[in-house]
Amino acid sequence: MSDLLEKIDAREWFYSYELPDGERTRTYHRGELDSIHNTRWEMLRRSIQNRFQGDYSGLRVLDLASHQGFFSVKMAQLGFGEVIGIDARASHVEDSSMIAELYGLDQVSFRQADIHSLDAQSLGQFDVVLMLGLLYHLENPIGALRTCRALCRDTCLIETQIVPGITGQVDFGSYEFVRPLKGTFGLIDETGETHGPEASITGICLVPSLDGLMWVLDRVGFSDPSVLPPPPDAYEQLRHGKRVMVAATV
Ligand SMILES: C[S@@+](CC[C@H](N)C(=O)[O-])C[C@H]1O[C@@H](n2cnc3c(N)ncnc32)[C@H](O)[C@@H]1O
Repeated sequence: MSDLLEKIDAREWFYSYELPDGERTRTYHRGELDSIHNTRWEMLRRSIQNRFQGDYSGLRVLDLASHQGFFSVKMAQLGFGEVIGIDARASHVEDSSMIAELYGLDQVSFRQADIHSLDAQSLGQFDVVLMLGLLYHLENPIGALRTCRALCRDTCLIETQIVPGITGQVDFGSYEFVRPLKGTFGLIDETGETHGPEASITGICLVPSLDGLMWVLDRVGFSDPSVLPPPPDAYEQLRHGKRVMVAATV
């Protein structure tokens, strides 16, 4: 067995990757989360196919919160010319780089950064920006969506948990000055879990309601945000609208 395969074999994985001998990487969830990954890839793939009609070679992709590289690798295998994955955790950058090397995907690279301090100018713009499974782990989700907008020159796909919203009118300083609520953010505590591989890095998470997310996307400069329909056999959270994948263009 090569050194690279030995290293891959010694680790536990969030994603089930096929290995050259036909075996798969050992996941720490015993396959229980394969369905959420596969559903999201299917939704993403269909949306990309509709938008770009299969001609991907001249296009750049940015995968924000790339974790161990699943969506970056899939996009490269689909034929995108350049894919950059960014994650706050150094161990994920190491793991995903090993998988890209295993598959011989020279067009993919990974780097470590916090989305809240990304230098958007030095990265340039991307035809596709992915922000899957990240927004609801952030303490500044609106700032992160502004960053997505700055980095995007065509399509952004955001996949996130959402919270139930409240609607109504708010006396905004006086009963004579009343404003409608545009959405809601739920505050979630991950402060005890920041060591976890999927968690927030600060532990303070603001999770949007669906109307809030759609309104913010419009306000930060995206056009026509739309919720993608989940397939009939989708992972339950996507099927029941507890999490959504939204496509927005610029
Ligand atoms: C639930 S996982 C989602 C991973 C992958 N995008 C997916 O959908 O399968 C959340 C990821 O966000 C990363 N993350 C958390 N906070 C971050 C931040 N402020 N900046 C960049 N990445 C962050 C974590 O390290 C983790 O890889």
